[in-house]
Amino acid sequence: MTDRSNELNAWDRDHFFHPSTHMGTHARGESPNRVVAGGEGVYITDVNGRTSLDAFAGLYCVNVGYGRQKIADAIAEQARNLAYYHAYVGHGTDASIRLAKMIIDRAPQGMSRVYFGLSGSDANETNIKLIWYYNNVLGRPEKKKIISRWRGYHGSGIMTGSLTGLDLFHNAFDLPRAPILHTEAPYYFRRPDRSMSEEQFSQYCADKLEEMILAEGPDTVAAFIGEPILGTGGIVPPPAGYWEKIQAVLKKYDVLLIADEVVTGFGRLGTMFGSDHYGIKPDLITIAKGLTSAYAPLSGVIVSDKVWQVLVQGSDKLGALGHGWTYSAHPLCAAAGVANLELIDEMNLVENAGTVGAYFRAELANAVGSHPNVGEVRGDGMLAAVEFVADRDDRVFFDASKKIGPQIAAALAERGVIGRAMPQGDILGFAPPLCLTKEEADKVIAATASAVDSVLG
Ligand SMILES: Cc1ncc(COP(=O)(O)O)c(C=O)c1O
Repeated sequence: MTDRSNELNAWDRDHFFHPSTHMGTHARGESPNRVVAGGEGVYITDVNGRTSLDAFAGLYCVNVGYGRQKIADAIAEQARNLAYYHAYVGHGTDASIRLAKMIIDRAPQGMSRVYFGLSGSDANETNIKLIWYYNNVLGRPEKKKIISRWRGYHGSGIMTGSLTGLDLFHNAFDLPRAPILHTEAPYYFRRPDRSMSEEQFSQYCADKLEEMILAEGPDTVAAFIGEPILGTGGIVPPPAGYWEKIQAVLKKYDVLLIADEVVTGFGRLGTMFGSDHYGIKPDLITIAKGLTSAYAPLSGVIVSDKVWQVLVQGSDKLGALGHGWTYSAHPLCAAAGVANLELIDEMNLVENAGTVGAYFRAELANAVGSHPNVGEVRGDGMLAAVEFVADRDDRVFFDASKKIGPQIAAALAERGVIGRAMPQGDILGFAPPLCLTKEEADKVIAATASAVDSVLG
């Protein structure tokens, strides 16, 4: 497997420090690498000419698919006219202003302004700072704790890595840091008491949240953050009644709600935002990935009118907001965003995510759902997951050291399809580009069934 046959591979092993990668096996050439050279539609091609169907859209971000000329042209044109200008002290560009307007036009009701960043992680850092600022302006300096959920994923920074509720992102990094707390994951398949109905389990999650708020003191709890549907934690849709019950608790104790829509924003669930899909009324929304379909790095915080009004009072008291990135609202990224949102409309991708997504999940369940080691096939919109178990009736999980999930993802890759072994549990995840066709879905399903059989018999 140690392919040092060409310079690029040798340089990759010797000099490229990859994110989320086993450092030792990569450097020693004991694990495979892939040097990606091109992409078209749902397919990517590596430098050796091997084509794969990317059923995870990169990292659930290339929502319009690869190779879209319209976005490439918009970036090129912007680069020729004005590659950069900053957004500090009231500066903007045609693209950044237009994009802010397009986002608010598409956002759930009550949203007012967009603060631009570059990654989902930095956007969630912005959320935390804005919430602290908000409570300071309101004269509530104690109200600073943020409650996240086990298995939530909100980024890899110091604060956002703390928000993330996955062991891999905490181990040996001295995370999570105060003042961040984690409550129950809304993971019905892994509910502690199997006799609970979905509604009962949702009530249990809401009760746990309320207990935590009361134990900490409501005057110290500022916000709750959650993905509308758990993503990296296992692609887990919320159980029935979950968001309604959680929001009732938050309202009772005046706790703000951040909907982290980095994965779900701009169509993935078959609605423009996941908040609309599940009846969530957030105070702040995190966006990234689907905003530009990753043609350029861009993220944002969508701020509700309620929060905005307090922030403005803050500026009137304290002066300009002391928070900004050099590349906030970068014109190349904003131009990519405008072209991308236009393309999503032109290609009718939000609707396609709903219809082809439903087809994909139903057929996937038909193909592998009755396998004795498949515990659950689940998802929503253009998101799906298969969770593998050692014993289905007694819900016994595989020992993590067996690496069943990674083995199945590798077997799938050998069959020319990219899925993702989710980091905690034996879960094979799918988040294809929103332009997936039924024929392409069939290819993913056939390859998955064959991969499962090859590993589990
Ligand atoms: C829900 C969610 N929030 C935040 C992030 C962090 O985004 P980034 O990797 O751009 O920092 C991710 C990334 O996968 C995510 O899925």
